[in-house]
Amino acid sequence: MSFYSMISLLVFTILHINNAVSNAEESQTYIIHMDHSHKPTSFVTHEDWHRSTLTSLMSSSSLAEQENEMLLYSYNHVMHGFSARLTVSQLSKLEKSPAHVATYPESFGKLFTTHSSKFLGLRQNSGLLLASSSGQDVIIGIIDTGVWPESESFSDRGMSEVPKRWKGTCENGTDFSPSLCNNKLIGARSFSKGLKAAGIKISTKYDFDSPRDWFGHGSHTSSTAAGNHVPGASHFGYAKGTARGVAPRAHVAMYKVLWATDSEKSAASDVLAGMDQAISDGVDIMSLSLGFDFLPYFNDVIAIASLSAIEKGIVVVCAAGNDGAYNTTYNGAPWITTVGAGTLDRTFTATLTLDNGLTVEGTSYFPESVYITDAPLYYGKDNANKAICNIGALDHKEVKGKVVICENTTETDVEGQKEEVQRAGGYAGIFMTDLSFLDPEDFSIPAIIVPFAAGALIREYATQANATRVKTLSFVHTNLGTKPSPEVAYFSSRGPDPVTPGILKPDVLAPGVDVLAAYIPNRGFMEVHKYDLETDYALLSGTSMAAPHVAGVAALLKAVHREWSPAAIRSAIMTTAYSSDNSQTTIKDQWSGLPATPLDFGAGHINPNKAMNPGLIYDMDVQDYIEFLCGLGYNAKQMKAVIRRSQWYCSSKPAELNYPSFMAIFNRTDSPNAKNFSRVVTNVGDDTSTYQAYLEVPKGMRITVQPSTLVFTGKNQEQGFTLSVEVDSDAPNVIYGYLAWIDQYNHIVSSPVVAINY
Ligand SMILES: *[C@@H]1O[C@H](CO)[C@@H](O)[C@H](O)[C@H]1NC(C)=O
Ligand SMILES: *[C@@H]1O[C@H](CO)[C@@H](O)[C@H](O)[C@H]1NC(C)=O
Ligand SMILES: *[C@@H]1O[C@H](CO)[C@@H](O)[C@H](O)[C@H]1NC(C)=O
Ligand SMILES: *[C@@H]1O[C@H](CO)[C@@H](O)[C@H](O)[C@H]1NC(C)=O
Ligand SMILES: *[C@@H]1O[C@H](CO)[C@@H](O)[C@H](O)[C@H]1NC(C)=O
Ligand SMILES: *[C@@H]1O[C@H](CO)[C@@H](O)[C@H](O)[C@H]1NC(C)=O
Repeated sequence: MSFYSMISLLVFTILHINNAVSNAEESQTYIIHMDHSHKPTSFVTHEDWHRSTLTSLMSSSSLAEQENEMLLYSYNHVMHGFSARLTVSQLSKLEKSPAHVATYPESFGKLFTTHSSKFLGLRQNSGLLLASSSGQDVIIGIIDTGVWPESESFSDRGMSEVPKRWKGTCENGTDFSPSLCNNKLIGARSFSKGLKAAGIKISTKYDFDSPRDWFGHGSHTSSTAAGNHVPGASHFGYAKGTARGVAPRAHVAMYKVLWATDSEKSAASDVLAGMDQAISDGVDIMSLSLGFDFLPYFNDVIAIASLSAIEKGIVVVCAAGNDGAYNTTYNGAPWITTVGAGTLDRTFTATLTLDNGLTVEGTSYFPESVYITDAPLYYGKDNANKAICNIGALDHKEVKGKVVICENTTETDVEGQKEEVQRAGGYAGIFMTDLSFLDPEDFSIPAIIVPFAAGALIREYATQANATRVKTLSFVHTNLGTKPSPEVAYFSSRGPDPVTPGILKPDVLAPGVDVLAAYIPNRGFMEVHKYDLETDYALLSGTSMAAPHVAGVAALLKAVHREWSPAAIRSAIMTTAYSSDNSQTTIKDQWSGLPATPLDFGAGHINPNKAMNPGLIYDMDVQDYIEFLCGLGYNAKQMKAVIRRSQWYCSSKPAELNYPSFMAIFNRTDSPNAKNFSRVVTNVGDDTSTYQAYLEVPKGMRITVQPSTLVFTGKNQEQGFTLSVEVDSDAPNVIYGYLAWIDQYNHIVSSPVVAINY
């Protein structure tokens, strides 16, 4: 199975309690949310109270051991509560307690699974990297599959000391000891009680029962966010150069919650425990490249835990998901920074020269810098099945030792064609397609993917000449400056957000295609000629790879602006993002080649150096999120579950978030289709500045801003404005423009204004 399909298989099934057949006395894992104001003062800690609560549920003898087995985790930060093994009757008893807030049945989630820093414009001795001392003293917590501590990316060369406020530790376990941590990797813990309670074993064949990474994903994401400089890193020669994270002086703490057991599962109770620990340890930034099913926020443990983290000033960055379709963004709660994936301006190629002198360049990741010279070409021109390398069509006697042409490849069957060539004993393959998503690990035979246009020339030669030959086929070329780039990766999940369509998601785009970062050296990355090839650095793709880029940028911004809230940091990243590619046209969708929209790229692609000095920010605090939740019409119990308090205030004004993007959802049968937004911006730029509103408005849409001039006479001063948007009833389904506030110092504070006309 390819890495793409593995990480995009995001089927987060809730373990339904099958009431009809299950024995009432059978235990299940539940996450129980409690109201801590009900804790009797006689209990010193919450855990004591949780244990006693569980003991009280036991009908027979209250054996301490039994209660020990029931309790998995006590949570103190993400929420007050615990996870435990309970029978249905115990659960219903517990739910009658006045202290009970909510029950979440255990659920299971999956992963969304160096040049990139340069692509982001981050240069060592200038801009944001200089101003932030490369993220010095900032701590990034990564919730993932663990870490390979010996990787050069986690060397603490040049690192500052562990910050005094840090409370985390490195745990002991299978092939892992606290001595493996250093001033770079300052924390490493693992959480598997929930997984084990569900009867899933962590077998030594498939994983390490410790923070050590078996999968490779966590080493990759954490080194992307904050890996140290590693010269000469490459993926079998491709993308060779110095690998470094976005914030190379930031500290890393790994919370392993995802396990590469044979079913590759992660339990919500474990993810919550990891997030709870990260908050308690004192991380500044949290990055998650995983997600669970689309759920309302009061049932979404990641959303609940993230709001708790935000309340403590921790920036929470999450991958948007790999479903590639509209209405599929994960982790879209408005307090989370939700990241989609874009391509880099880099391609990996092979060069093919035929005997007639025709030279063609095509995509390849074949991991050997070998040359194929003077090899016979095979083209099954008289048999369509052979020409398109259908399964079982090729004859070993005909193709043995030859370079096989497979024509009319569609994106979905290159892999099938490659397998057919390999099965029949072909020496190498030429595949013709304009859309190819073969993963690096799929290049198990020498293969080149050529565009249709070039393919037609190859076919012409192969049809006309006899005794056709390949003069040379060479691999391991890395090309920079690819145009257009960035593009929205074909797999990147698109808005509107399935839970709250009125908030534009994803927020931003960051590099997520063929990202080079640390990998695990103990397990083969791919197989070539029946040999496992291993690598310290690998090219991986996914929104999983995009999120840690933004976590790194957030760390750099945090180092420069310690006082900024998570919303301010996100605002700075969003309002300075760009929506044009390096051909100076709108960023395109990799899938269709057509211009993408903010539903695909949010506010645009991140532009870190600009984010350092955004001019204005759209700030928000927890009260704003509470007002937003009030507006969703949640009942008291549901409110309590998300905001983890028993008292709150909802004003009567229409709930609207001070979000740095604008999203209106209209029904085209209504007339007029208009909406007013009110926003407040805070001056974080020069003391006195005057901003003018500039609007970019397409036909069929009208946008007005009142007032259209904002005058600031001091830093941190706030000014409000109203933006009105109106859309014609015959406008396209998705129509958008931009508002940009521009001052005399050329700060450009840009926001997409999107309307969906259903
Ligand atoms: C650390 O873990 C290993 C493997 O589980 C174990 O053999 C060893 O005794 C542990 N060491 C300490 C100090 O706990
Ligand atoms: C492949 O596509 C070309 C151009 O569309 C067409 O002429 C040719 O017949 C196709 N070949 C097969 C085997 O379907
Ligand atoms: C290839 O072409 C040469 C010269 O045109 C001819 O002599 C030979 O018979 C051809 N071979 C085949 C297999 O058609
Ligand atoms: C979006 O997805 C949600 C959840 O899957 C679904 O309930 C909703 O109907 C979808 N909306 C649209 C417009 O497809
Ligand atoms: C739009 O409004 C019409 C009339 O009120 C209604 O019948 C229709 O279902 C609405 N469409 C959507 C997509 O909500
Ligand atoms: C928006 O505000 C303007 C000016 O206050 C008002 O005239 C208009 O009715 C409002 N539109 C909506 C849709 O609320």
